[in-house]
Amino acid sequence: MNQRVGIEALAVAVPERFLSLEDLAIARGVEPAKFTAGLGGREMAVADPGEDSVALAATAVAKLLKSYAIDPNRVGMLVVGTETGVDHSKAVASYVQGLLGLPRAMRTYDTQHACYGGTAALMAASDWIAAGHAHGKAAIVVCADIARYGLRTAGEPTQGAGAVALLVSDKPDLFELDRGICGMASSHVFDFWRPLGSREAVVDGHYSINCYLEALGDAYAGYRKLALEREIVRHSEQLPSEQLSRIAYHVPFCKMAKKAHLHLRKCELKARLGRELTAEEQTAEDRAAAIAFETQVAPTLALAARIGNTYTGSLYLGLASLLHTQGASLAGKRIGMFSYGSGNSSEFFSGVVGAHASAAIAKAELDQLLASRRRVTMEEYEQVMEMNAATPPQAQPRPGTFRFVGVTDHRRRYVAG
Ligand code: HMG
Repeated sequence: MNQRVGIEALAVAVPERFLSLEDLAIARGVEPAKFTAGLGGREMAVADPGEDSVALAATAVAKLLKSYAIDPNRVGMLVVGTETGVDHSKAVASYVQGLLGLPRAMRTYDTQHACYGGTAALMAASDWIAAGHAHGKAAIVVCADIARYGLRTAGEPTQGAGAVALLVSDKPDLFELDRGICGMASSHVFDFWRPLGSREAVVDGHYSINCYLEALGDAYAGYRKLALEREIVRHSEQLPSEQLSRIAYHVPFCKMAKKAHLHLRKCELKARLGRELTAEEQTAEDRAAAIAFETQVAPTLALAARIGNTYTGSLYLGLASLLHTQGASLAGKRIGMFSYGSGNSSEFFSGVVGAHASAAIAKAELDQLLASRRRVTMEEYEQVMEMNAATPPQAQPRPGTFRFVGVTDHRRRYVAG
């Protein structure tokens, strides 16, 4: 059965506040260029305790249903990929189902493996549909996280928060997955983790970059082999990676996507030559890689530069950025996707942009979403970071959004705006 499966609709939710990375650098006594040019960011989202993963996930799903006029009765599965859930047992998906009043005849659960959790959810949902088990229904996949490292840490400029909700179905108007063509790489490493009870992640920053790159090389090798066998890329003058119109990478900070693309090309060239590059070849490659990055990868980074790391949502913000800015010219073109979750688990896969993706993504109103945020001072940012996670400030949620308002009898309470 040649079943089409992929992303039919996409919506994004972000916290109301953001901080300029230049303001952060000045306050920390760091040259601003380190955060802007060195890490590649401009702003990062700042979530207060009322904007937890449930609130962001529910807001993104509410937006998805409303903006794309989706009948909730079409939905038979709701999976939330998150590494910053709110309970050891009760799923974020269960809160979202209740807050949105979604149908009872539905499979709901969360998936967790650091930033890979969203991709795990997407793969589970697409397999469910492709296997013929959905009986015409669609799945909602939500990637929702608060990326938090703490004040005055090396990770501080790489924080962020947000949620991306995807409608996954057999009408992939935005992005049709190349089913069965993917490469995986996983290993047990301590590059980044968050022990039970800890609000902040523990991270071995430079080691985590190496783990990411090593996983990318291995996952891409697996993908490339299958992609060549299935002839979606070919042996030719062009590298197989150059035959992908664009590549979206997991983006913990924007510069990481550049490191990733350079590394991927290096692995590919090494595999082709069967040896390391000579100094002369390396100089030529440096030039070619810089051009390839600007064309193939830079257009995926617009939202990450303004929102920061969204963990599970990061890769899908990359896809949203791309469709938002270049959706019309990319119709029918193939996009590579690399998902990385620390700890670690990773996957390289691809898909094809839908004929009407540009019109469809316009419904996500991404420019309006960014414009509706409020820039905070360093003083307000630090106040928000120091708030008690269990006692959120009592603010009225904006129309169409949800907020966590406190705990009664061990039960978390949320209100809708
Ligand atoms: P650091 O040690 O403070 O920064 O932390 P640095 O010294 O490495 O500098 C960063 C870059 O700025 C360097 O560029 C410098 O040269 C440059 P590079 O050499 O790497 O290309 N630089 C400047 N550029 C211009 N003007 C200047 C200047 N000064 C320096 N004046 C680090 C950086 C990323 C390690 C830190 O922020 C961190 O620990 N972040 C969190 C961990 C992380 O993001 N890891 C990424 C891979 S793991 C991953 O992606 C998974 C994750 O998303 C979690 C999950 O899966 O759930 C994190």
